Amino acid sequence: MNTEEQFKNIISHCKEYGFIFPSSEIYEGLAAVYDYGQNGVELKNNLRTYWWKSMVQMHQNIVGIDASIFMQPKVWKASGHVDGFNDPMIDNKDSKKRYRADVLIEEYIEKINSKISKEVLKASERFGEKFNHNTFLSTNERVLNYKNEIDRIEVILKQSLESGELANLKKLIEELGIVCPLSGTKNWTDVRQYNLMYSTQMTATDGESELYLRPETAQGIFVNFLNVQKTGRMKIPFGIAQTGKAFRNEIVARQFIMRMKEFEQMEMQYFVKPGSELKWYNYWKNYRMKWHLSLGTNSVNLKYHDHLKLAHYANAAVDIEYSFPFGFKEVEGIHSRTDYDLSRHQEFSGKKIQYFDNETNSNYTPYVIETSIGLDRLFLLQMCENLKEEKLENGEIRSVLKINPNLAPYKIAILPLVKKDGLTEIAEKIYNDLKFDFACFYEEKDTIGKRYRRQDAIGTPFCVTVDYDSLKDETVTLRNRDTMEQSRIKIDILGKMLSEEINWKNLLSKL
Ligand code: GAP
Repeated sequence: MNTEEQFKNIISHCKEYGFIFPSSEIYEGLAAVYDYGQNGVELKNNLRTYWWKSMVQMHQNIVGIDASIFMQPKVWKASGHVDGFNDPMIDNKDSKKRYRADVLIEEYIEKINSKISKEVLKASERFGEKFNHNTFLSTNERVLNYKNEIDRIEVILKQSLESGELANLKKLIEELGIVCPLSGTKNWTDVRQYNLMYSTQMTATDGESELYLRPETAQGIFVNFLNVQKTGRMKIPFGIAQTGKAFRNEIVARQFIMRMKEFEQMEMQYFVKPGSELKWYNYWKNYRMKWHLSLGTNSVNLKYHDHLKLAHYANAAVDIEYSFPFGFKEVEGIHSRTDYDLSRHQEFSGKKIQYFDNETNSNYTPYVIETSIGLDRLFLLQMCENLKEEKLENGEIRSVLKINPNLAPYKIAILPLVKKDGLTEIAEKIYNDLKFDFACFYEEKDTIGKRYRRQDAIGTPFCVTVDYDSLKDETVTLRNRDTMEQSRIKIDILGKMLSEEINWKNLLSKL
């Protein structure tokens, strides 16, 4: 399966097995808006739980909040979103399709990167065991030319984005010969900036006022800095975490749940003493990468990507990228945001937003390190990483979601072999005993083979089958999702076995 087919397969698997549906599908759907189905919502909740436990519960000095989606509109003026939350867009005059100019260029760079990968693959096949990856990358003339070309393009891209010289972006697109994927032509408009915030109206006794749907959760944390610091008697360094919906009018919304108009963020702002920010930036950069690895994601599929364009208020920023079937793309950002946000809110609100340091007997505006991850992108990462097609001995293909058991929608499926002779009574009893501690699935219909396949496809780590032996010796067949091995186990130790195999501590202790 090539990468395009692999991605299509993931999208159709998500629909077929109740993970993700297009929004309002019976009305032809709504572009770039999706609904999570019965299995998707469980997996998404589990991802959120793991993030919350690792960020809040595991840190004495991090607490959570849940701020509203609507905020006083001055918040967005202060944060810079009203004036500067734009994307550089370009239209193809023939297809009438709109693209992000920087994304078109980044995709071009990605194509050069795949050419480098192809050269590496060819050479490794030619030289076999003698092949040295690093030496090849630093000496092969063709690879060096490709790398120089990438460096050149990145410099122009960075300069154009930083200076806001949109004409240079268009010039670069033309010079690289980038064509519209739909029309295949180079008939481009000029590049223009578009604001990404959605607005709506709020009616009050004195008329209507414009409100924004928040485009990030972070500002809810900044405006509550004093409330939390004072009521929680928090001492710097400390963090405030939040998960919740954010909205962006993404004109180019593509790649399934990768870029949506309504999505969920999980953000943590860590308030530190000025001067210590780069130490904490490195701490969170490492911690967040470790977090992704703890879920079993292969390290070769994850990488850091330093920001080409640093926001004017940031003094360091990095993305954690994942190798999606359509290339390495951002899943999470770690940003050192200086004192910009708190200072701006101090300026715009007229309220003093500072921290009194008992040790130095002085006030200062804390600096902020932010970790910001999109829950939906993380969901997609988990699907891409763990959905496998395996060829079985009998030639059949099984789709199996080999996801970490803590994340699986169901931990155990309880399956009576047949619907008679007292087997369902035993199965129901097992279900009713285990359901207090574990998400359990119960199913009587279809052959046992078909039922196993369905549980593999939704990632259930264990199935138990109640059969005729269960009537005699109070045991069941326990089937392992990953190995497909089966063993007999006493019914009364099922709960103990599950708690040993599936618990948050197993994951959290890796951090
Ligand atoms: N507070 C910082 C902030 O919002 P961002 O890089 O714009 O930074 C953070 O967004 C994360 O939110 C991204 O790394 C991505 O995972 C997710 N995200 C951003 N826009 C998204 C969209 N349109 N659809 C899905 N996820 C998105």
